[in-house]
Amino acid sequence: MTQPWSPDSWRALPIQQQPVYPDAKRLNDVERTLAGFPPLVFAGEARELRRQFAEVTHGRAFLLQGGDCAESFAEFSAGKIRDTFKVLLQMAVVMTFAAGCPVVKVGRMAGQFAKPRSSGEETQDGVTLPAYRGDIVNGITFDEANRVPDPQRLLQAYHQATATLNLLRAFAQGGFADLHQVHKWNLDFIANSALAERYHQLADRIDETLAFMRACGLESAPQLKETSFFTAHEALLLNYEEAFVRRDSLTGDWYDCSAHMLWIGDRTRQPDGAHVEFLRGVNNPIGVKVGPTTSTEDLIRLIDTLNPNNDPGRLNLIVRMGANKVGDHLPRLIQAVQKEGRLVLWSSDPMHGNTIKASSGYKTRDFASVLSEVREFFQVHQAEGSYAGGIHIEMTGQNVTECIGGARPITEAGLCDRYHTHCDPRLNADQSLELAFMIAETLKQVRR
Ligand code: PEP
Ligand code: CO
Repeated sequence: MTQPWSPDSWRALPIQQQPVYPDAKRLNDVERTLAGFPPLVFAGEARELRRQFAEVTHGRAFLLQGGDCAESFAEFSAGKIRDTFKVLLQMAVVMTFAAGCPVVKVGRMAGQFAKPRSSGEETQDGVTLPAYRGDIVNGITFDEANRVPDPQRLLQAYHQATATLNLLRAFAQGGFADLHQVHKWNLDFIANSALAERYHQLADRIDETLAFMRACGLESAPQLKETSFFTAHEALLLNYEEAFVRRDSLTGDWYDCSAHMLWIGDRTRQPDGAHVEFLRGVNNPIGVKVGPTTSTEDLIRLIDTLNPNNDPGRLNLIVRMGANKVGDHLPRLIQAVQKEGRLVLWSSDPMHGNTIKASSGYKTRDFASVLSEVREFFQVHQAEGSYAGGIHIEMTGQNVTECIGGARPITEAGLCDRYHTHCDPRLNADQSLELAFMIAETLKQVRR
């Protein structure tokens, strides 16, 4: 028997990865304040994303999801938002045009602040403090006052998310995403690379196509002038998420209006845990990270709980195995899902299973492993007769040096040049574009 759900029913269940706030009353006041603020997204938009997810699940579109590992208060500017958005647009246009496949665009943006950690504490030179859990919880600098979880940060995260989403909406609909601007999405620092050349050739072909359509009198379609762009983050900090649960006035259904899509991380996907309980009751499209430790039984239980009606737009399984491990685990999971007749959107996160430590001490990822995991993901799906529907990456439009490798290779020694991430290493614009071309080629073959 399924127990009744309410926005706070998660509070009665075991929960992982939560900060310990020293002042419960202050936290409570902030939660109430947040609950009184306007939501970030509207339920109808989340329903539209579910409709688009269903298209992907049925093999008629591809999902591109990307953004920072962790957004931060310090790295908050129009330029940074614009550049990440530009790279996502570029990647999407490469896949759409080269592979002839509609691309659903979702940013890890406007709310991607809270981070799960492998340890609740961090020790430096004999001093032990609470671990950094993202700017929405505490500060990254290793000093005692800064590491105490502060509820005020929930409000700052909300305001930053609001401003970010506002700009993203303007970019998506205000002319910036107009396909006639396709050449201008290229970022200055990739201007002279072989990749930029490849991108400009594709952009030239798009220009020609648009000119042809204009000549035929087909120019005015709104799809050419604006795009749809959605937001998503890990629903980790449930005090924050609960404050955004609203009942849709049109349907009477519950939605978490902090983002269009929410996902459950690899460390918080316990079938009987608080995170699964919270997300089962909201009607947004939901993601679940699936890793080498996901048992087939747990996966089916999760699907039962999160998508009892077998709706094709509801559930995105985000596979994050690590290069050379996809073949060991993904076939059994796909087979179980097929055997049970479940409809899910499969996407690949080729980042989180590929984190390594460079000899210099930096946390990094080898771009070759990222490409390799994506290839394995496509191969396994092809062998199992299922659809590889999307990609979920940590990337930025900034010219960072956080992942090694790539067409313009970043070396271990070069990592220190521009290593800015607040959590995991991200692909830079070069590497993201290279990945997009690889996926476009693969998609073209698969779709043929
Ligand atoms: C993440 O997406 O930032 C993350 C922490 O991933 P995972 O839960 O898969 O480790
Ligand atoms: Co990460």
